[in-house]
Amino acid sequence: MEIIKKVSEIQGICLQARQEGKSIGLVPTMGYLHEGHLSLARAARAENDLVVMSIFVNPLQFGPREDFATYPRDMERDCRLAESVGVDYVFVPDGEEMYPQGYNTYVEVLGEVTEKMCARSRPGHFRGVTTVVLKLFNIVQPHRAYFGQKDAQQAIVIKKMVADLNLPLKIVTCPIVREADGLAMSSRNTYLSPEERRQALALPRALAAGRELIERGERDPRKVREKILEALNGAPGVRVDYVEVCSGRDLSELGVLEGPVLLAAAVYVGKTRLIDNIDLEVKPCCAPC
Ligand code: PAF
Repeated sequence: MEIIKKVSEIQGICLQARQEGKSIGLVPTMGYLHEGHLSLARAARAENDLVVMSIFVNPLQFGPREDFATYPRDMERDCRLAESVGVDYVFVPDGEEMYPQGYNTYVEVLGEVTEKMCARSRPGHFRGVTTVVLKLFNIVQPHRAYFGQKDAQQAIVIKKMVADLNLPLKIVTCPIVREADGLAMSSRNTYLSPEERRQALALPRALAAGRELIERGERDPRKVREKILEALNGAPGVRVDYVEVCSGRDLSELGVLEGPVLLAAAVYVGKTRLIDNIDLEVKPCCAPC
């Protein structure tokens, strides 16, 4: 595995691979890798000739009062882990390489997908994500790019950008990887104290309670949302940011739960903001509700 710091160098490597007819898989990350990231890299390894993982803590997607400066970083460990799952190249540009002096171009998906849920409490976040992701797509020119379902809204926003701009690549979304007790893996879990770590379990449990209600036949999104909210509001140490029950295709509001449905929530546990979701395919309810 090779570590590449320069845009021109990774561009040259990827261009040559394309000319040789090789397929390229890109796994964009902000590092501090966990099993979730590694599952993306394994999927990329299985489907492509060349696997590039980018590790870049993107300042553009952090708000002024967010954790850009303290975001966990461990490049040596990340490189060891990336190599262990068969990544060919890790691309680790610094801030100046991605956004040189005078950088002034941004990419923004407008509309409902970037107006609700995480966008409310993190203004400018998705603009930062789409800007860096489009730059990475332009630099690496992958055939496929891999994102985690944990960031369900991010995956939908990126798919919209790819469709709207006719980008010639496939976005692959991989399932959420959870700890043994159900907490979704996240680099930010390291911020939690042991007590907060226990309290954080309220998030996957509340979403699971919402899913159970649907499985028992409930098709009213408001009732499912209330159930999740109730579970979270009753949980010690947890402050709700949002709970959303909406279309898993485009995050639009649903009158009745049917087809792809997303149950999503964000909470604060102490100072740490955690997100999680469950996506499911809901069949029409035949029993009288
Ligand atoms: O999901 C992430 O880690 C980041 O948002 C991404 C896609 C690497 C862009 O910085």
